[in-house]
Formats: sequence, C-alpha cells, structure tokens
Amino acid sequence: MKAITVEPHRPGTARLEDIPEPDVRDGSVLVEAIAVGVCGTDVEIVEGKYGWAPEGRQRLVLGHESLGRVIDPGPSSGLRKGDLVAGIVRRPDAVPCPSCAVGEWDMCRNGQYTERGIKQIDGFMSERWRIEPEYAVKIDGSLGLVGVLLEPTTVVTKAWEQVSAVGHRAFWEPRTVLVTGAGPIGLLAALIGKQHGLDIHVLDRLESGPKPELVRALGAIYHAGTVSGVGLQPDVIVECTGVGQVIADSIQAVAPGGVVCLTGVGTGGRTVGLTTADVASSVVLRNNVVVGSVNANKRHWYKAGQVLAQADRAWLARLVTRREPPEHFTRALQRQPDDIKVVIQFAQA
Ligand code: BGC
Repeated sequence: MKAITVEPHRPGTARLEDIPEPDVRDGSVLVEAIAVGVCGTDVEIVEGKYGWAPEGRQRLVLGHESLGRVIDPGPSSGLRKGDLVAGIVRRPDAVPCPSCAVGEWDMCRNGQYTERGIKQIDGFMSERWRIEPEYAVKIDGSLGLVGVLLEPTTVVTKAWEQVSAVGHRAFWEPRTVLVTGAGPIGLLAALIGKQHGLDIHVLDRLESGPKPELVRALGAIYHAGTVSGVGLQPDVIVECTGVGQVIADSIQAVAPGGVVCLTGVGTGGRTVGLTTADVASSVVLRNNVVVGSVNANKRHWYKAGQVLAQADRAWLARLVTRREPPEHFTRALQRQPDDIKVVIQFAQA
C-alpha cells in the first residue's frame, strides 16, 4: 500500500512509497484512511527539525490528524464496519510515570511517551492503518470529512480545560477572551470559547479573506494587527501563534488574575519584548498564570467529539480549505496565504 514516509532529522527525505500492509500486532481494528490533516508539526518533521522513527527503523509514516473508515472492527472493539474513526495520537510511557499510569499521557512526566506519526510509532498517512480498540475514537458519521478536525479540536479542548483549572484557583468569572492566531487551532479555540458563552476576540495579521469571515460567522470579533492594538484586557488569552512578540505582548495585556495559555510552539531565535525579570514582575504583581498545553488524553477526545457534534457543519467545512491527493503531499506541506486546514485525502468520506 502507499504511504507518506520520512526519515526524521534528515530534511528532504519525505516520499510517497509502497510499504507492507499494517501488521495485525499494531491493533485489531483495520481502517481505510479517508483523510489526514497537515499541521506545523508535520512540516517541522519533514524539514528535519522534529520527529523520531520507530526503534530499529529509519523511516516513520507521517501523519497524526486522522480520519478513517473501519474495514474490519476485529473481535472486541464495539465498532462496526463502515464506522468513521480517528486514532488517538499519544501512548503512555512504559514505566509508567504517575500521569501515564492514570491515563493522563498528555501530562507525561518522563518524556518517554510515544506519538503516532511523530515519535516512534507510525502515523496515519497510509492507505490503511491499524489501531488498538482502546485508542480508536468513533466519530459522528454525519461529520463526514470534517471529522478530520477532531485531533486539533482535542488539543484546544485540553487547552481550555487547563485555562479553567488554573482559573478556578481563585474566584473565576471570565468574560473576555483573546485568541491570537486564526489558524485551525485559533479558530477551534474561538469555537469552544463561543460554546462556553464568552466574548471572543481573534487576532491575526490578514485584513481580509476566509479568516476574518470565519471569525465573524462565529459571532466573534476579528482584529488585524498587534495585541496592544486590540486595546483589551482579556481575562483569558489563548496564544496560538508561537511568535515571541505576540507571547510577550499577551503576558502584558492579560487582565489581573487572568490566564495566558500557550498552545503554539515558536520558531525561537529572536529576543523580543520583555526580559525575564519584566515577565516575573508583570506576572507576580497581577497574579497571572502562563500555562503551556500540549496533546490530549481520552477525556479531551470525548469532549472534542461533543464540540464538533454541536458546531455548525457548514462553518466547520470552511476550515478545510484545501484537499490534496497523496501524490501531491509536498504541495499540502507548503503553506499558502489563505490556507486554514489542508488535508491529504486518501478516499471519499
Ligand atoms: C500534536 C500533538 C503532539 C504535539 C507534540 C502536535 O502537533 O497535535 O498531539 O503531542 O504535536 O509532538
């Protein structure tokens, strides 16, 4: 079968190639790939900056934002042939650390977790894949292709849970939220904020195009420019750009007692904005919390399914701005200005 594979830490090694059918030891559920979303992490892996091949191998099957159709549910999954499913990305470390031991592998403490398509386990960019029943998540069939948005939705579902957990250390009645970045993560963070009944503002660089339209269609307010230009003191900032300046500005702009949740991983390099001492005084004197959030556990996958099921299907469909066939995977990895979520489509939904 065809798969998109890469040799991690060696730029320019990604290719579409023939690999053996998935091994039954990888899971009793056999799935036909429908689509796999592409995100910044995939680009980093292909550029040789991130990613790990399975032990004893040089190449990794790429892809962690999965959507597939069950071909064979196996003996014990409770799934049926034809069900739409996505695969959970992370697996607990083998030690296990206390977090992994209680099923919170997203909070793994020793870094020995594995991740499909990223860290030591093959991903989902192959015509067929297998999965263990306990890591297969059934998707509402009526979502069709937009079911591919489940994985990024799990990431923001966890981020929102972190914001809430941190907020509740004191009296917590948030109203105003700023989301920085109107990519898929930012837009899905805005969607969840709206579902929570909050006033949502979204900041990005572009003045026009699908991003401002999608923000407005959600009933949120769109801003182009800088965090200080928005002129708000938000109770919550969900930072989805990973850009140093935006992070520094967010820490200064957040309201006293407010929470800045970082979801983006920056490109590093440039020293911008606040010094560490400035960050400390700003955070200390106003009781702020800056919290980082990565990955998602089963609870977030379940809740993210509810988020998508409650969302407007037409709005979700507009997030998928480009579909490329596997043979054009390099095109899928190249970002174009109006891209939101680009997917590699293996079969019809
Ligand atoms: C994925 C997460 C993963 C993280 C770090 C993200 O792109 O969505 O599941 O934990 O990368 O590897």
